[in-house]
Amino acid sequence: MFFEFVSALLKFALMAKNTLDKILQSQGFGSRRWCAELIQDGEVSINGAVFNDVRCKVETDGLSFSIYDQTWSYREHVYIALNKPANYECSRKASHHPGVLKLLPEQFDLRDVQPVGRLDHDTTGLLLMSDDGPFIHKQSSPKHHVPKIYVATTHDAVTEELVAALLKGVQLHDENAPLAAVSCRKVGEHQIEIVLEQGKYHQVKRMLAAAGNHCVALCRSQIGELKLADLQLAEGQWCYLDEALLALLKPV
Ligand code: URA
Repeated sequence: MFFEFVSALLKFALMAKNTLDKILQSQGFGSRRWCAELIQDGEVSINGAVFNDVRCKVETDGLSFSIYDQTWSYREHVYIALNKPANYECSRKASHHPGVLKLLPEQFDLRDVQPVGRLDHDTTGLLLMSDDGPFIHKQSSPKHHVPKIYVATTHDAVTEELVAALLKGVQLHDENAPLAAVSCRKVGEHQIEIVLEQGKYHQVKRMLAAAGNHCVALCRSQIGELKLADLQLAEGQWCYLDEALLALLKPV
């Protein structure tokens, strides 16, 4: 009884409350002033009722709100999986092609959502995105040995020698030692699945070139145990990653 009371008290003390304008700003809906105007104009509802009191504090835990009739859940951070189409750049300052942020709701840009690592503009497939700095850092760190699976379409037919060379390791120009695939197998006459733990610049394409073939298309199908196919996202579609899906990204 005593412990239940203490834990309820602790939970109450830890509950985060804030004014709605600050909450909306934290979710990327604009400056605090802009968000306050939205609220005062009656554009924001909570549980179906217009909420136009800017000063009243609101509990963020489990909060859903609607802006212009579109409903959002409060999230301290967002963790996203995107099925990246070709011809989108992963950099924040995209130059030759639109950036991948263009495929997400506008407010994610304002809350500083970024790609976790990079895929080339012509590479398709599974791309993680987040606004959680430590998560991005950890996932991109070379010390974090999470295997990434790529399916490459090759110009020349995939041979046993190609598979053997990638498994043994190939020397790239600016690397001190040969780089090898963690595993590798032929999956079609012109298709090869390559598993890597590092994420060096153009690594798959350069490894294939160093092994005497040429990559004509590349798709990332899996990161850790998170499989793009299981997410059932069409190209250009995205979804939030909940705790169960995030757990699949842990090193094996
Ligand atoms: N390797 C490449 O060559 N390109 C990518 O986009 C990812 C891995």
